[in-house]
Amino acid sequence: YEVAWDAAAADKGGWSSFMAKEITEQPEAVANTVRGRLVDGHVEIPELTALGDDLLREIDRIVIIACGTASYAGMIGTYAIEQWARVPVEVQLSHEFRYRDPVLSDRTLLISVSQSGETMDTLMAVKYAIERGVTTVSVCNTQSATIPRESDAAVYTHAGPEVAVASTKAFVAQITALYLIGLHLGRVRGTLSGDDARRAAEQLEELPGLLGEAVDTHDQIAQLAHWMADTRSVLFLGRHVGYPTALEGALKLKEIAYIHAEGFAAGELKHGPIALIDHGQPVFVLVPSPRTSPLMHSKVVSNIQEIRARGARVIAIVEKGDTSVLPFADDVIRLPLTDVLFEPLLQVIPLQWFALELSAAKGLDVDQPRNLAKSVTVE
Ligand code: G6P
Repeated sequence: YEVAWDAAAADKGGWSSFMAKEITEQPEAVANTVRGRLVDGHVEIPELTALGDDLLREIDRIVIIACGTASYAGMIGTYAIEQWARVPVEVQLSHEFRYRDPVLSDRTLLISVSQSGETMDTLMAVKYAIERGVTTVSVCNTQSATIPRESDAAVYTHAGPEVAVASTKAFVAQITALYLIGLHLGRVRGTLSGDDARRAAEQLEELPGLLGEAVDTHDQIAQLAHWMADTRSVLFLGRHVGYPTALEGALKLKEIAYIHAEGFAAGELKHGPIALIDHGQPVFVLVPSPRTSPLMHSKVVSNIQEIRARGARVIAIVEKGDTSVLPFADDVIRLPLTDVLFEPLLQVIPLQWFALELSAAKGLDVDQPRNLAKSVTVE
């Protein structure tokens, strides 16, 4: 009797793939992003302080640039930064940025988001901005990578090395870092109320525990993926921060399960995509909290009724205790309670598990999908 042991398996810490391991590391990843940046209930990022408070007060526009999963983290970040720092924020894909002759000034802040810090498209966009006198901040997971070295300030996510090509823990850490930046800017600019600051600080502290509960959805999702192993197309719907989360859920499926998947803003459905719905079409719906977002919640429940009436197989991701969708959903995945801005951090976890389990059910290489690279260093 011989014990099979190999170094690669050992690195996975007993998990079947790096992606599985990295999904389970998300509570710790987020705790590491927050660590040292939340002092006495307020957020202080020394790297931003070093830029000078005057500069941060004077910026009149923020442009986030990123590719892939990082761009969806950027989209989620726009909602929080605008809410807390009252400055317009937009996301542009790095590889589109310089071709549109972007409007930039010395009051523009450019935030790049990149796990690797080496993505060539993003690096070229950062260089383009630097040449035009724009202040650049890098949100990056890889210490001393090229993009943070080129930038005026680096806000590291400290999520630890991410090996699987499909990004998971880096994504939640990027969202967290963007939220910290939003809270820092809001404090310096005087736009963040004491109540909002305290509430956000509480949420950031609770987050690792809540993420742990979201990780525990694994067994339910694995069962679902098992039943759905032959699925050829999956749709994802979300509203507000749930919209970019839906896009990320769809990207994960494309990347590792090679399944056609699309994410939509729930309200956009009636403007075209609802024509796609026919009998048995699986649709994941990210349902916002009825406590904190009653209006959005009721709109999303109506969307569920509309697609259900057309035969969709509805998989609803809801907060615990929300029973309103039970009559219209085929499957219900329950997540712990949090404030609306923090919902994506929890909602994305069952979507990551789903992609992983579907990929595994199809016998694919979860960590090394065809045609993709972890870091794309060509334009
Ligand atoms: C590649 C990876 C994606 C990643 C994107 C951006 O395409 O396959 O998973 O989201 O690059 O990578 P970055 O390192 O810049 O975050």
